[in-house]
Amino acid sequence: RRVFCINGPNLNLLGQREPEIYGHQTLDDIGALLLKEAQVFDIGVEMLQSNHEGQIVDWLQQARTEASGVILNAAAYTHTSVAIHDALKALDIPVIEVHLSNPAARDAFRSVNYISPVVKGSIAGLGSVGYVLALKALAQLIPST
Ligand code: DQA
Repeated sequence: RRVFCINGPNLNLLGQREPEIYGHQTLDDIGALLLKEAQVFDIGVEMLQSNHEGQIVDWLQQARTEASGVILNAAAYTHTSVAIHDALKALDIPVIEVHLSNPAARDAFRSVNYISPVVKGSIAGLGSVGYVLALKALAQLIPST
């Protein structure tokens, strides 16, 4: 069982970027948390981050054959990307959407969401814990072979 953890624009700056909103942990710290949890479930995790929409679409297409589940924080593309929406529609493995902050409690433009209608479930507002919870959910959702 293999999970892609795909992270969108500006998440490479976690730890430095608006820490009052996104916390002090870096994406590497979150990766380490996930890896530790993944060992418990005997799941492989691939941490991926890009600032480019097309790269995220490419990874979602790759996931069709190379992954059994996806954790996705599409960051700002959550609120804009029809391309990522369409790529998710073409994917029939479970995808859990994660946000560190709670976009519904922030700017009005963050209440538009192209991702949540096409994922299995969403977790928002719980910081890095959300990623770990998403992995726990996938461990239940992905059949062990
Ligand atoms: C985010 C929320 C988005 O609105 C924002 O654009 C991000 C991060 C989050 O994890 O809270 O970049 O996805």
